[in-house]
Amino acid sequence: MRLTVAVICSLVAVQLWVTLLAGELKVGYYDDKCSGVEDVVKSHVIKAIILNRGNGAALVRLIFHDCFVRGCDGSVLLDASGVNPRPEKVAPVSIGLEGFDILEEIKADLERRCPGVVSCADILIFAARDASSILSNGRVRFDVPAGRLDGLVSSADEAQAELPEPTFTIRQLIDSFARKNFTVEELVVLSGAHSVGDGHCSSFAARLAAPPDQITPSYRNLLNYKCSRGGGADPAVVNNARDEDLATVARFMPAFVGKLRPVSALDNTYYRNNLDKVVNFNSDWQLLTQDETRGHVHEYADNAALWDHDFAASLLKLSKLPMPAGSKGEIRNKCSSINHR
Ligand code: HEM
Repeated sequence: MRLTVAVICSLVAVQLWVTLLAGELKVGYYDDKCSGVEDVVKSHVIKAIILNRGNGAALVRLIFHDCFVRGCDGSVLLDASGVNPRPEKVAPVSIGLEGFDILEEIKADLERRCPGVVSCADILIFAARDASSILSNGRVRFDVPAGRLDGLVSSADEAQAELPEPTFTIRQLIDSFARKNFTVEELVVLSGAHSVGDGHCSSFAARLAAPPDQITPSYRNLLNYKCSRGGGADPAVVNNARDEDLATVARFMPAFVGKLRPVSALDNTYYRNNLDKVVNFNSDWQLLTQDETRGHVHEYADNAALWDHDFAASLLKLSKLPMPAGSKGEIRNKCSSINHR
Protein backbone atom coordinates (compact mmCIF):
# COMPACT_ATOMS: atom_id res chain seq x y z
CA MET A 1 0.00 0.00 0.00
CA ARG A 2 2.78 2.37 0.97
CA LEU A 3 4.63 1.55 -2.22
CA THR A 4 1.53 2.24 -4.31
CA VAL A 5 1.06 5.64 -2.70
CA ALA A 6 4.72 6.45 -3.27
CA VAL A 7 4.52 5.38 -6.92
CA ILE A 8 1.34 7.41 -7.48
CA CYS A 9 2.92 10.44 -5.80
CA SER A 10 6.02 10.23 -7.96
CA LEU A 11 3.92 9.77 -11.11
CA VAL A 12 1.92 12.87 -10.19
CA ALA A 13 5.17 14.72 -9.49
CA VAL A 14 6.63 13.67 -12.86
CA GLN A 15 3.44 14.70 -14.62
CA LEU A 16 3.52 18.07 -12.85
CA TRP A 17 7.15 18.53 -13.77
CA VAL A 18 6.58 17.71 -17.44
CA THR A 19 3.54 19.98 -17.65
CA LEU A 20 5.40 22.82 -16.04
CA LEU A 21 8.51 22.30 -18.09
CA ALA A 22 6.35 22.63 -21.17
CA GLY A 23 5.57 26.10 -19.83
CA GLU A 24 1.85 25.63 -20.16
CA LEU A 25 -0.19 27.89 -17.95
CA LYS A 26 -3.85 27.11 -17.61
CA VAL A 27 -6.82 28.91 -16.10
CA GLY A 28 -8.21 26.59 -13.42
CA TYR A 29 -4.90 24.71 -13.24
CA TYR A 30 -5.46 23.71 -9.59
CA ASP A 31 -9.14 22.73 -9.98
CA ASP A 32 -8.37 19.01 -10.05
CA LYS A 33 -5.29 19.21 -7.82
CA CYS A 34 -6.37 21.18 -4.78
CA SER A 35 -9.89 22.47 -4.61
CA GLY A 36 -10.56 26.07 -3.67
CA VAL A 37 -6.99 27.38 -4.07
CA GLU A 38 -8.04 30.71 -5.55
CA ASP A 39 -10.75 31.17 -2.92
CA VAL A 40 -8.23 30.58 -0.14
CA VAL A 41 -5.84 33.15 -1.62
CA LYS A 42 -8.62 35.67 -2.06
CA SER A 43 -9.89 35.33 1.51
CA HIS A 44 -6.38 36.04 2.85
CA VAL A 45 -5.98 39.03 0.55
CA ILE A 46 -9.34 40.47 1.60
CA LYS A 47 -8.36 40.07 5.24
CA ALA A 48 -4.98 41.73 4.68
CA ILE A 49 -6.52 44.68 2.84
CA ILE A 50 -9.21 45.19 5.49
CA LEU A 51 -6.38 45.33 8.02
CA ASN A 52 -4.40 47.82 5.94
CA ARG A 53 -4.98 48.95 2.34
CA GLY A 54 -1.22 49.36 1.99
CA ASN A 55 -1.02 45.57 1.95
CA GLY A 56 -2.92 45.60 -1.33
CA ALA A 57 -0.47 48.06 -2.89
CA ALA A 58 2.45 45.93 -1.71
CA LEU A 59 1.00 42.87 -3.47
CA VAL A 60 0.40 44.79 -6.70
CA ARG A 61 4.03 45.92 -6.70
CA LEU A 62 5.31 42.39 -6.09
CA ILE A 63 3.94 41.05 -9.38
CA PHE A 64 6.09 43.60 -11.21
CA HIS A 65 9.23 42.90 -9.22
CA ASP A 66 8.84 39.16 -9.44
CA CYS A 67 7.94 38.86 -13.11
CA PHE A 68 10.48 41.35 -14.51
CA VAL A 69 13.33 39.36 -12.98
CA ARG A 70 13.71 35.76 -14.24
CA GLY A 71 9.98 35.63 -15.07
CA CYS A 72 7.20 34.95 -12.58
CA ASP A 73 8.99 32.37 -10.47
CA GLY A 74 8.69 33.66 -6.91
CA SER A 75 12.41 34.55 -6.93
CA VAL A 76 11.64 37.90 -5.27
CA LEU A 77 10.33 36.02 -2.23
CA LEU A 78 13.58 34.25 -1.35
CA ASP A 79 15.38 35.37 1.81
CA ALA A 80 19.13 35.75 2.13
CA SER A 81 20.79 32.50 3.14
CA GLY A 82 24.26 31.11 3.74
CA VAL A 83 24.54 29.98 0.14
CA ASN A 84 22.83 33.06 -1.29
CA PRO A 85 23.51 36.14 0.86
CA ARG A 86 22.28 38.60 -1.82
CA PRO A 87 18.85 37.62 -3.20
CA GLU A 88 16.64 40.03 -5.19
CA LYS A 89 14.98 41.51 -2.14
CA VAL A 90 18.20 43.12 -0.87
CA ALA A 91 18.82 45.03 -4.12
CA PRO A 92 18.52 48.82 -3.77
CA VAL A 93 15.72 48.76 -6.35
CA SER A 94 13.70 46.53 -3.98
CA ILE A 95 13.44 49.32 -1.39
CA GLY A 96 10.08 49.21 0.38
CA LEU A 97 8.97 45.81 -0.96
CA GLU A 98 6.44 44.32 1.42
CA GLY A 99 3.74 41.68 1.50
CA PHE A 100 6.06 38.71 2.04
CA ASP A 101 4.37 37.69 5.30
CA ILE A 102 0.95 37.66 3.68
CA LEU A 103 2.15 35.32 0.94
CA GLU A 104 3.90 33.08 3.48
CA GLU A 105 0.67 32.82 5.47
CA ILE A 106 -1.29 31.88 2.35
CA LYS A 107 1.35 29.31 1.46
CA ALA A 108 1.20 27.76 4.95
CA ASP A 109 -2.59 27.54 4.71
CA LEU A 110 -2.41 25.86 1.28
CA GLU A 111 0.35 23.49 2.44
CA ARG A 112 -1.95 22.32 5.25
CA ARG A 113 -4.70 21.62 2.71
CA CYS A 114 -2.62 20.19 -0.16
CA PRO A 115 1.07 19.67 0.66
CA GLY A 116 3.53 20.30 -2.17
CA VAL A 117 0.96 21.27 -4.78
CA VAL A 118 0.65 25.06 -5.08
CA SER A 119 3.70 27.11 -6.08
CA CYS A 120 4.57 30.39 -4.40
CA ALA A 121 4.91 31.90 -7.87
CA ASP A 122 1.24 31.18 -8.56
CA ILE A 123 0.15 32.36 -5.10
CA LEU A 124 1.90 35.68 -5.72
CA ILE A 125 0.12 36.16 -9.05
CA PHE A 126 -3.31 35.21 -7.65
CA ALA A 127 -2.76 37.56 -4.70
CA ALA A 128 -1.65 40.49 -6.90
CA ARG A 129 -4.65 39.92 -9.18
CA ASP A 130 -7.03 39.86 -6.20
CA ALA A 131 -5.43 42.95 -4.66
CA SER A 132 -5.85 44.86 -7.95
CA SER A 133 -9.44 43.78 -8.15
CA ILE A 134 -10.25 44.74 -4.55
CA LEU A 135 -8.40 48.08 -4.66
CA SER A 136 -10.17 48.99 -7.90
CA ASN A 137 -13.58 48.06 -6.46
CA GLY A 138 -13.85 45.19 -8.92
CA ARG A 139 -13.10 47.22 -12.05
CA VAL A 140 -9.74 45.56 -12.75
CA ARG A 141 -10.42 41.86 -13.14
CA PHE A 142 -9.10 38.96 -15.12
CA ASP A 143 -8.62 35.20 -14.97
CA VAL A 144 -5.11 34.07 -14.13
CA PRO A 145 -3.63 31.04 -15.84
CA ALA A 146 -1.50 29.04 -13.39
CA GLY A 147 1.00 26.20 -13.27
CA ARG A 148 4.22 28.10 -12.57
CA LEU A 149 7.19 26.59 -10.77
CA ASP A 150 9.17 28.30 -8.04
CA GLY A 151 12.66 29.24 -9.19
CA LEU A 152 15.89 28.24 -7.48
CA VAL A 153 17.87 31.37 -8.31
CA SER A 154 17.54 34.89 -6.90
CA SER A 155 20.17 37.56 -7.42
CA ALA A 156 20.25 41.17 -6.21
CA ASP A 157 22.51 42.12 -9.12
CA GLU A 158 20.05 40.69 -11.60
CA ALA A 159 17.12 42.56 -9.98
CA GLN A 160 19.13 45.78 -10.10
CA ALA A 161 19.91 45.24 -13.77
CA GLU A 162 16.40 44.21 -14.86
CA LEU A 163 14.12 46.59 -12.96
CA PRO A 164 13.73 50.26 -13.91
CA GLU A 165 14.78 52.89 -11.39
CA PRO A 166 12.76 55.96 -10.42
CA THR A 167 15.58 58.20 -11.71
CA PHE A 168 15.33 56.75 -15.23
CA THR A 169 14.74 58.91 -18.29
CA ILE A 170 11.89 58.15 -20.67
CA ARG A 171 14.37 56.46 -23.03
CA GLN A 172 15.65 54.18 -20.27
CA LEU A 173 12.08 53.35 -19.18
CA ILE A 174 10.99 52.50 -22.71
CA ASP A 175 14.10 50.35 -23.25
CA SER A 176 13.65 48.58 -19.92
CA PHE A 177 10.07 47.63 -20.80
CA ALA A 178 10.96 46.78 -24.41
CA ARG A 179 13.53 44.23 -23.15
CA LYS A 180 10.58 42.36 -21.63
CA ASN A 181 8.54 42.80 -24.80
CA PHE A 182 6.30 45.52 -23.35
CA THR A 183 5.19 48.41 -25.54
CA VAL A 184 5.38 52.12 -24.82
CA GLU A 185 1.64 52.10 -24.17
CA GLU A 186 2.01 49.24 -21.66
CA LEU A 187 4.72 51.21 -19.85
CA VAL A 188 2.23 54.04 -19.42
CA VAL A 189 -0.60 51.68 -18.44
CA LEU A 190 1.42 49.84 -15.81
CA SER A 191 2.83 53.04 -14.33
CA GLY A 192 -0.75 53.80 -13.28
CA ALA A 193 -0.20 51.33 -10.42
CA HIS A 194 1.33 54.34 -8.69
CA SER A 195 -2.20 55.54 -7.98
CA VAL A 196 -1.87 53.54 -4.77
CA GLY A 197 0.74 52.88 -2.10
CA ASP A 198 3.72 54.92 -1.06
CA GLY A 199 7.41 55.50 -1.65
CA HIS A 200 10.41 56.50 0.42
CA CYS A 201 11.75 60.02 0.15
CA SER A 202 15.09 58.64 -1.06
CA SER A 203 13.22 57.29 -4.10
CA PHE A 204 12.32 60.81 -5.23
CA ALA A 205 15.12 62.86 -3.67
CA ALA A 206 15.89 64.85 -6.83
CA ARG A 207 12.21 65.80 -7.20
CA LEU A 208 12.44 67.78 -3.97
CA ALA A 209 14.49 70.38 -5.85
CA ALA A 210 13.10 69.89 -9.37
CA PRO A 211 12.05 73.03 -11.34
CA PRO A 212 8.38 74.11 -11.61
CA ASP A 213 7.99 72.73 -15.13
CA GLN A 214 8.58 69.25 -13.65
CA ILE A 215 6.68 69.44 -10.37
CA THR A 216 4.05 71.85 -9.09
CA PRO A 217 5.88 74.00 -6.52
CA SER A 218 3.14 73.67 -3.87
CA TYR A 219 3.34 69.88 -4.17
CA ARG A 220 7.12 70.03 -4.03
CA ASN A 221 6.80 72.02 -0.81
CA LEU A 222 4.41 69.40 0.56
CA LEU A 223 6.86 66.60 -0.24
CA ASN A 224 9.75 68.57 1.30
CA TYR A 225 7.69 69.05 4.45
CA LYS A 226 6.77 65.35 4.65
CA CYS A 227 10.34 64.25 4.00
CA SER A 228 11.81 66.65 6.55
CA ARG A 229 9.70 65.04 9.27
CA GLY A 230 11.69 61.81 9.26
CA GLY A 231 14.28 63.07 11.72
CA GLY A 232 17.11 62.00 9.41
CA ALA A 233 15.39 58.72 8.57
CA ASP A 234 13.84 57.99 5.19
CA PRO A 235 10.07 58.41 5.62
CA ALA A 236 7.51 57.09 3.16
CA VAL A 237 5.01 59.41 1.50
CA VAL A 238 1.82 58.36 -0.29
CA ASN A 239 2.17 58.06 -4.08
CA ASN A 240 -1.16 59.75 -4.72
CA ALA A 241 -1.79 63.21 -3.23
CA ARG A 242 -5.44 62.17 -3.06
CA ASP A 243 -4.45 59.91 -0.14
CA GLU A 244 -2.62 62.62 1.84
CA ASP A 245 -3.90 63.81 5.19
CA LEU A 246 -6.30 66.72 5.13
CA ALA A 247 -4.23 69.06 7.33
CA THR A 248 -1.12 68.80 5.15
CA VAL A 249 -3.01 69.26 1.90
CA ALA A 250 -5.00 72.18 3.33
CA ARG A 251 -1.73 73.83 4.32
CA PHE A 252 0.21 73.33 1.07
CA MET A 253 -2.38 72.77 -1.67
CA PRO A 254 -5.77 74.07 -0.52
CA ALA A 255 -7.17 73.79 -4.05
CA PHE A 256 -6.54 70.05 -3.94
CA VAL A 257 -8.62 69.43 -0.80
CA GLY A 258 -11.71 68.56 -2.86
CA LYS A 259 -9.78 65.73 -4.48
CA LEU A 260 -8.98 63.94 -1.22
CA ARG A 261 -10.65 60.56 -0.86
CA PRO A 262 -11.34 58.60 2.33
CA VAL A 263 -10.44 55.29 0.65
CA SER A 264 -7.56 55.03 -1.77
CA ALA A 265 -8.43 53.19 -4.99
CA LEU A 266 -6.43 51.76 -7.84
CA ASP A 267 -7.65 53.97 -10.67
CA ASN A 268 -6.73 56.50 -13.36
CA THR A 269 -6.29 59.47 -10.97
CA TYR A 270 -2.54 58.94 -11.44
CA TYR A 271 -2.79 60.35 -14.98
CA ARG A 272 -4.70 63.46 -13.99
CA ASN A 273 -2.18 64.06 -11.20
CA ASN A 274 0.64 63.51 -13.66
CA LEU A 275 -0.72 66.16 -16.05
CA ASP A 276 -1.01 68.48 -13.04
CA LYS A 277 2.65 67.64 -12.17
CA VAL A 278 1.61 66.20 -8.84
CA VAL A 279 3.45 62.86 -8.90
CA ASN A 280 6.39 61.65 -6.83
CA PHE A 281 8.87 59.79 -9.01
CA ASN A 282 10.95 61.25 -11.78
CA SER A 283 9.94 58.15 -13.81
CA ASP A 284 6.28 59.21 -13.47
CA TRP A 285 6.95 62.74 -14.68
CA GLN A 286 9.12 61.43 -17.52
CA LEU A 287 5.96 60.08 -19.17
CA LEU A 288 5.11 63.67 -20.08
CA THR A 289 8.41 64.30 -21.84
CA GLN A 290 7.77 62.33 -25.01
CA ASP A 291 4.87 62.70 -27.49
CA GLU A 292 3.72 59.08 -27.51
CA THR A 293 3.81 58.56 -23.75
CA ARG A 294 2.23 61.97 -23.09
CA GLY A 295 -0.55 61.07 -25.53
CA HIS A 296 -1.30 57.91 -23.55
CA VAL A 297 -1.26 59.85 -20.26
CA HIS A 298 -3.97 62.12 -21.71
CA GLU A 299 -5.88 59.12 -23.04
CA TYR A 300 -5.99 57.39 -19.64
CA ALA A 301 -6.65 60.61 -17.71
CA ASP A 302 -9.77 61.03 -19.86
CA ASN A 303 -10.98 57.44 -19.87
CA ALA A 304 -11.13 55.58 -16.57
CA ALA A 305 -12.79 52.47 -18.00
CA LEU A 306 -10.16 52.16 -20.73
CA TRP A 307 -7.42 52.23 -18.12
CA ASP A 308 -9.15 49.58 -15.98
CA HIS A 309 -9.38 47.33 -19.02
CA ASP A 310 -5.84 47.92 -20.30
CA PHE A 311 -4.32 47.63 -16.83
CA ALA A 312 -5.93 44.20 -16.38
CA ALA A 313 -4.62 43.11 -19.80
CA SER A 314 -1.09 44.35 -19.01
CA LEU A 315 -1.02 42.65 -15.60
CA LEU A 316 -2.12 39.44 -17.27
CA LYS A 317 0.70 39.80 -19.80
CA LEU A 318 3.13 40.49 -16.96
CA SER A 319 1.95 37.34 -15.19
CA LYS A 320 2.94 35.24 -18.19
CA LEU A 321 6.61 36.25 -18.33
CA PRO A 322 8.43 32.90 -18.34
CA MET A 323 11.50 31.75 -16.48
CA PRO A 324 14.71 31.79 -18.57
CA ALA A 325 14.86 28.79 -20.93
CA GLY A 326 16.30 25.71 -19.27
CA SER A 327 15.68 26.95 -15.69
CA LYS A 328 14.90 24.39 -13.06
CA GLY A 329 12.05 24.82 -10.62
CA GLU A 330 10.18 23.22 -7.79
CA ILE A 331 7.16 23.68 -5.53
CA ARG A 332 8.72 25.28 -2.47
CA ASN A 333 7.72 24.20 1.03
CA LYS A 334 8.09 27.79 2.18
CA CYS A 335 8.09 30.84 -0.07
CA SER A 336 11.17 32.37 1.54
CA SER A 337 13.57 29.47 0.92
CA ILE A 338 14.29 26.81 -1.65
CA ASN A 339 13.71 23.20 -0.56
CA HIS A 340 17.20 21.80 -1.14
CA ARG A 341 20.57 23.36 -1.00
C1 HEM B 1 7.78 52.22 -14.73
C2 HEM B 1 8.75 51.89 -13.93
C3 HEM B 1 8.60 51.87 -12.45
C4 HEM B 1 9.42 52.45 -11.56
C5 HEM B 1 10.66 53.24 -11.88
C6 HEM B 1 8.87 52.21 -10.25
C7 HEM B 1 9.43 52.65 -9.08
C8 HEM B 1 8.83 52.56 -7.84
C9 HEM B 1 9.39 53.07 -6.62
C10 HEM B 1 10.74 53.74 -6.49
C11 HEM B 1 8.49 52.83 -5.64
C12 HEM B 1 8.63 53.23 -4.15
C13 HEM B 1 9.62 52.34 -3.44
C14 HEM B 1 9.91 52.89 -2.06
O1 HEM B 1 10.64 53.87 -2.01
O2 HEM B 1 9.40 52.35 -1.07
C15 HEM B 1 7.36 52.19 -6.23
C16 HEM B 1 6.22 51.85 -5.53
C17 HEM B 1 5.20 51.15 -6.10
N1 HEM B 1 5.17 50.64 -7.37
FE1 HEM B 1 6.41 51.08 -8.87
N2 HEM B 1 7.74 51.48 -10.37
C18 HEM B 1 7.53 51.22 -11.70
C19 HEM B 1 6.52 50.48 -12.23
C20 HEM B 1 5.59 49.81 -11.48
C21 HEM B 1 4.70 48.79 -11.98
C22 HEM B 1 4.72 48.26 -13.41
C23 HEM B 1 3.90 48.42 -10.95
C24 HEM B 1 2.82 47.37 -10.90
C25 HEM B 1 2.17 46.94 -11.94
C26 HEM B 1 4.27 49.22 -9.81
C27 HEM B 1 3.62 49.22 -8.61
C28 HEM B 1 4.01 49.95 -7.52
C29 HEM B 1 3.21 50.05 -6.32
C30 HEM B 1 1.81 49.47 -6.09
C31 HEM B 1 3.97 50.79 -5.42
C32 HEM B 1 3.59 51.13 -3.97
C33 HEM B 1 4.02 49.95 -3.12
C34 HEM B 1 3.65 50.04 -1.65
O3 HEM B 1 3.04 51.00 -1.22
O4 HEM B 1 4.00 49.09 -0.92
N3 HEM B 1 5.32 50.02 -10.16
N4 HEM B 1 7.59 52.01 -7.57
